[in-house]
Amino acid sequence: MRTNTGQIIHLEDYRPTDFVLERVDLTFELDPKETKVEARLIFHRREGVDSAAPLVLDGDELTMTGLLLDQEELATTLYDVAEDTLTIRGLPETAPFEITITTLLSPETNTQLMGLYRTNGVYSTQCEAEGFRRITYFPDRPDVLAVYTVNIIADKASSPLLLSNGNYLGGADMGDGRHFAAWFDPHPKPSYLFALVAGDLGVVEDTFTTMSGRDVALKIYVEHGKEPRASYAMDALKRSMKWDEEAFGREYDLDIFMIVAVSDFNMGAMENKGLNIFNDKYVLADPETATDADYANIEAIIAHEYFHNWTGNRITCRDWFQLCLKEGLTVYRDHEFSADMRSRAVKRIAEVRHLKSEQFPEDAGPLAHPVRPTKYREINNFYTTTVYEKGSEVTRMIATILGRDLFKKGMDLYFDRHDGQAVTIEDFVACFEAASGRDLRQFALWYHQAGTPLVTASGAYDATKQTFTLSLEQTVPPTPGQSAKEAMHIPLKMGLLLEDGSEAALAAVSGADMTDDVLHLTERNQTVVFSGIPSRPVPSFNRSFSAPINLHIEQNADDLALIAHHESDLFARWQALNAIALGNLVEATANVRAGKPVTSDKALIDGLIRAAADNSLEPAFRSQALALPSESDIAREIGTNNDPDAIHAARQQILTAVAAAGRDTFLKLSDELVSSGGFSPDAASAGRRALRNSALTYLVQADEGPERAAKAFAAANNMTDLSHALALLAHRFPDSAEATDALATFRKRFADNALVIDKWFAVQATIPGAGTLDRIKALMNEPLFNGNNPNRVRSLVGTYAFANPTGFNRADGEGYRFLARQILDIDPRNPQLAARILTSMRSWRSLEDKRAGHARKALKEIAGASKLSADVGDIVERMLKA
Ligand code: ARG
Ligand code: ZN
Repeated sequence: MRTNTGQIIHLEDYRPTDFVLERVDLTFELDPKETKVEARLIFHRREGVDSAAPLVLDGDELTMTGLLLDQEELATTLYDVAEDTLTIRGLPETAPFEITITTLLSPETNTQLMGLYRTNGVYSTQCEAEGFRRITYFPDRPDVLAVYTVNIIADKASSPLLLSNGNYLGGADMGDGRHFAAWFDPHPKPSYLFALVAGDLGVVEDTFTTMSGRDVALKIYVEHGKEPRASYAMDALKRSMKWDEEAFGREYDLDIFMIVAVSDFNMGAMENKGLNIFNDKYVLADPETATDADYANIEAIIAHEYFHNWTGNRITCRDWFQLCLKEGLTVYRDHEFSADMRSRAVKRIAEVRHLKSEQFPEDAGPLAHPVRPTKYREINNFYTTTVYEKGSEVTRMIATILGRDLFKKGMDLYFDRHDGQAVTIEDFVACFEAASGRDLRQFALWYHQAGTPLVTASGAYDATKQTFTLSLEQTVPPTPGQSAKEAMHIPLKMGLLLEDGSEAALAAVSGADMTDDVLHLTERNQTVVFSGIPSRPVPSFNRSFSAPINLHIEQNADDLALIAHHESDLFARWQALNAIALGNLVEATANVRAGKPVTSDKALIDGLIRAAADNSLEPAFRSQALALPSESDIAREIGTNNDPDAIHAARQQILTAVAAAGRDTFLKLSDELVSSGGFSPDAASAGRRALRNSALTYLVQADEGPERAAKAFAAANNMTDLSHALALLAHRFPDSAEATDALATFRKRFADNALVIDKWFAVQATIPGAGTLDRIKALMNEPLFNGNNPNRVRSLVGTYAFANPTGFNRADGEGYRFLARQILDIDPRNPQLAARILTSMRSWRSLEDKRAGHARKALKEIAGASKLSADVGDIVERMLKA
């Protein structure tokens, strides 16, 4: 295991390498236990660098068996091998030289899944962020770009397929049962984009003709027999390639583009040049085994990794502090793609739900960090929703501030100016400044200040003067290492709605700049006056969620209802309904805790049922409208002293009230929307399934017994409906014979499909209530449980900790103690997985005292363990820091 004791890396310490890497030639002799890697690296000393400066290469868990300088063995006095480095002295002053390093690795025992590993008979790699140093000694940092040639030698019978980045050069039989293949990638790249795959896999093939008329071979490799399940991914890939040409003018740049699906993978997917490697969860789909959410994720992630070819690969990061340069931008690009493929408003609602449920808590807790951090101890812990999702929102705000045309001009300039380079956020922002002539210095604070800004607004209407005066105040809460914050540039899209639902013209404004419907907040306190407003308006703020902020405004349910019914921006309608619901749920929670009866808001019930029944709205939107804020949304809104049991009880009572009031509507929807004919994963069909399942959820909520849910389970003819019915049964009637039967039927039917069995574990991990922990413990002894498969561990342990508020936050603290033990068990074999699951406790300080006390104890138990990885050590330390 890596024994990184936790050196902190600072952005301000960045400096270029002393040596420039010109070329890389790698030869792999693959063997499960003893793979031999020969790396030939050609360097020259950078101009101006001291002639005595040594070459320092990174390494991690390597066994070196050879070291040559220009093909001559190097005297042992000229180099040192330390834990994480190889240092070579006495190198030529100016002339290029070649270093040849031979290392031995054991792919089979590499359970960290970083570097080269072998599972299920397939060799594959994961090098981002610092996995390449587990393959050979190397300047393993993103600003070292080189051209790679890769030779792979392996047993022909078990590894007929030998893949690496770039274009295929050729291959041959070695005559000894082995064969080899050579690959050449002409595009200079950093080591984190290196990839190698070898094994015996099936393939789905297609071609794409680029905008300049070049044919690109497309190949998706999956386990034999799973080829039919890769056709949706192939379709998504072709649509992504086309879209990137149309929307961003980006053309693919190699003769071949490959995707390999593997079942043991720490993350979602990886954008290695020409050879993306995916968690098979984001490749494989068919109606029988994939939900509509799975299809949407596959489309988005295929697009995301493909889009990295330009935003990440052609233009990469100077250092890992700049991670959002590629991730935030690429998430923005995949969001735009999905919005174009599906319904923009519905997509935006889903994005904002995700942002608020994942990124806002991160930004409000002990793990908060800027989109562009300035220090880290373990970079793997910075692949966060802040870097990805908030990073995307920051890019979106640039587009909002500049407008479509100038944003495009800025992007074009970025591609022109920096192609082939490793750059910084400052370089990125400078392109938009140059393209637009705008000063974005204040805006750039979004990259540097952590915490979700809070905007407080109050309005006053003057009927005689026909003016509406808005008083706005912005504050950014303190976050770890940042106590004082400066005022930000917040682009707030807004409208003023009049009583009849029409919109007031915002022609005369003083006190703030306004471009179209975007109000530019730039001061801590700002008073904005709108003139020529004929009657008292209802302000609708943050249309399409133009800024990732919290907004507080005194608005009664009638005003919110007006927005919910009349806003031209569909997102804003949903936002208003959501605000009504959240207000009601927070109040209901307080009532539960005070022992008072819970009352449901008439505006909420009317609003939900009206949206549900409105046939002029698309079904997917109506389904989103019906989905009440989650228990963690409510906890976040309450902020402190949270009691998850009270939140759950309150939410259940409001659900029941909606169910009772809307019964006729829900019955009608569940009848009308029964799917007829074949299955199609398209957005419109998915939307109808979603609305029907939302209606069903309310009907089952009001049911006394499990019959209706059991019937839905029996009738389901696709995985969306089947898994939904299973969850309804298991969550609403966990102890019923029907639930037990359905779980058993499901298990039996899908026992040999790992991705579906993950759903089976996840459904059980999210059964509300304290009793679920015992179920989880029993499930860990299930033959189908596999502690070495990251998807499986996430589906049971991760889902329990992240997505079961009442089950995990047991009042007696047993949930936290269980998690602590799991973390300590996982950490030695897979530190990244352990660290990621541990972040489920990031909001522990907002719990009521007793639970918080138990949580602290569990975290201390982890912190006190004798041997922790840097990954877990870093997370637990930050979580406990006062
Ligand atoms: N670059 C990959 C992606 O965006 C994710 C890599 C995650 N790496 C890590 N060490 N966590 O899709
Ligand atoms: Zn990415």
